[in-house]
Amino acid sequence: MKRILICGSNGLLGQRLAQLLSVNSNFEVLNTSHHRTFFLNHGSFDYTQLDITSRSDIKSLVNSFNPEIIINASGLTNVDLCEKEREHAWKVNVVGVKNLADVCRNLGAKLIHISTDYVFDGNDGPYSETARPNPINYYGRSKLAGENAILSSDINYTILRTIVLFGVGNNIKYNFALWVINSLLENKPVRCVTDQISNPTYVGDLANACLLSIVQTESTTFHISGSTILSRYEFACTIAKVFKLNSSLIQPILTKDLQQPATRPKKSGFVLDKAQKILNYNPTSIEDSLELMKKEFSVLQK
Ligand SMILES: NC(=O)c1ccc[n+]([C@@H]2O[C@H](COP(=O)([O-])OP(=O)(O)OC[C@H]3O[C@@H](n4cnc5c(N)ncnc54)[C@H](OP(=O)(O)O)[C@@H]3O)[C@@H](O)[C@H]2O)c1
Repeated sequence: MKRILICGSNGLLGQRLAQLLSVNSNFEVLNTSHHRTFFLNHGSFDYTQLDITSRSDIKSLVNSFNPEIIINASGLTNVDLCEKEREHAWKVNVVGVKNLADVCRNLGAKLIHISTDYVFDGNDGPYSETARPNPINYYGRSKLAGENAILSSDINYTILRTIVLFGVGNNIKYNFALWVINSLLENKPVRCVTDQISNPTYVGDLANACLLSIVQTESTTFHISGSTILSRYEFACTIAKVFKLNSSLIQPILTKDLQQPATRPKKSGFVLDKAQKILNYNPTSIEDSLELMKKEFSVLQK
């Protein structure tokens, strides 16, 4: 039985990981996150509050749980907030990651860490793992620095970079797909950019990639996303189609119309060959992912 510590269990990915790994009899899972309580209040999950920016808290927790694997699904993920609250972003996305890498080195544990396509500038995607990072906003810079902290830490690691995560969970604040669905359900117009393209990722696929990474012995980085590259506008239209919502409320706009605090990569997206070949990663089609999300969404509404 492998002992797995999940950090950021209250997030979109963290909740999915808790559900996926806790039912697997090969694993003993301890869920942790920044909040005092666990948002998945059904089932019998083990949960402890943990702030990854506190070195001493991490140390005392791992001394008692002694994990063989740490999966870091935590992060400051609000891109515009990271632009404005740089110290906070650095603390969570860099210092916190370094803290986890340090305990992994001391324990001889493996670290599975989630990063982002925002480490790239979005000038010439889709990107393979060998492409040169060049972040254009603070979130991307902090996530790249987090990756570099792991690379220089001399531990066994798997870094999974992902893109535009979508899915449902308890108390999940925001993701693009949920925003589109909730707005259309309330008959509100949504303005979506036609000039930011990438392959959105179903959270179940990313959780599965984390599971596949557990047995990886060679330290490396994988690109994990869906297989279809499309604009945010096209993604919103696909969501409306699957959820049978009014697509005439979706208005095409350009990135410059949004005036967002953080600059966004435009031509992004991932090449998935490495993950498909080495990890056996097999992403769900965008339509099937949205059908799954639709079922999960209706369960959550009940
Ligand atoms: N969402 C995307 O579109 C996207 C795209 C590319 C990459 N990623 C990466 O994928 C990973 C997972 O993303 P997600 O969308 O699942 O994130 P999310 O829903 O925003 O959840 C992140 C979680 O991190 C936890 N957290 C924040 N600060 C913490 C701290 N100091 N100590 C411990 N936990 C802390 C929060 O916990 P509490 O709720 O308990 O406060 C939150 O639930 C992140 O690394 C993100 O950078 C996401």
